Amino acid sequence: MKVTVVGAGNVGATCADVLAQREIANEIVLLDIKEGFAEGKALDIWETSPVNLYDSKTIGSTNNYEMTKDSEVVVITSGLPRKPGMSRDDLIATNAGIVKSVTENIVKYSPNAKIIVVSNPLDVMTYCAYLSANFPSSRVFGMAGVLDTARYRAFLATELNVSPKDIQAVLMGGHGDTMVPLPRYTTVGGIPVTELIEEDKLNEIIERTKFGGGEIVKLLGTSAWYAPGASAAQMVEAIVRDQRRIFPVCTWLQGEYGLSDIYLGVPVVLGKNGIEKIIELDLNDAEKALLSESVDAVKSVMAVLDNMNASVSE
Ligand code: NAI
Ligand code: 2OP
Repeated sequence: MKVTVVGAGNVGATCADVLAQREIANEIVLLDIKEGFAEGKALDIWETSPVNLYDSKTIGSTNNYEMTKDSEVVVITSGLPRKPGMSRDDLIATNAGIVKSVTENIVKYSPNAKIIVVSNPLDVMTYCAYLSANFPSSRVFGMAGVLDTARYRAFLATELNVSPKDIQAVLMGGHGDTMVPLPRYTTVGGIPVTELIEEDKLNEIIERTKFGGGEIVKLLGTSAWYAPGASAAQMVEAIVRDQRRIFPVCTWLQGEYGLSDIYLGVPVVLGKNGIEKIIELDLNDAEKALLSESVDAVKSVMAVLDNMNASVSE
């Protein structure tokens, strides 16, 4: 069974490495537009196999989509990070162009694939892939919630000095400062987190989570890759092993939560068909207000893409 990762940069190569090390797929194709880059990363990963004792094969490709033929899952990580002097709209235009052409090539060779988008701005790049793929929305979705909840859970584990394995949490909304961590749905070994952490401290952790991506950028001068790559690989695993895991996933909404025609992070069941089910939580008024702010933020970026598409087709 084949999984393709497009973009052999920091996130893509890490994702491929986790897929190989954990034998999530027996064939992993890593594809990049930069000559020889994916081949080099793939070879390095394959040369780890005798040391770490696994037999998943990673192969590299410079933009040859024939090698991706019949992939069960495709992870799209290709795209530029924002550079100094580049406006948000410039970034959207550049990355939308990349995501569109990558998606068109992918669907040509893997018409039954499930597509996981990672490129930023995440919610809108997932929308862009959906528009380009012409697939049912259950097969086009984005990775952000797994990463954002991982950050939230890691911060809670540090604060409580307990295993992150025992922390369960849900987070909703767009991948940005308006994301909505939900303390009412956060438990530690089955105990509501609100019984273990004071409100002020919990709010501090929630704020830190919202800006978790920026915290890494400030430290490294570029965005994160270990947790993002592992998070995308965990979604791939849920699909190829039909695990029916419950994750927050950037999903196309058609009436759920009273919202339509928007990609937004919501809890779903993820299995062999992609999004098997969208879970609708009974949010209280305060949570609904926070989600509504996040919807506005995502819609404003979606409008930039819609306007660009409209001016191209005029
Ligand atoms: P990177 O710059 O290390 O890698 C991007 C790769 O994409 C490069 O190797 C580049 O050659 C390749 N690429 C560009 N155009 C291409 C095309 N048309 N076809 C194939 N490959 C192409 O960047 P990094 O750190 O891996 O991040 C990738 C993307 O993921 C960025 O947009 C970043 O903002 C986003 N990201 C999203 C996260 C999330 O939670 N959704 C978390 C972390 C990063
Ligand atoms: C992150 O959250 C920047 O989206 C990237 O690390």
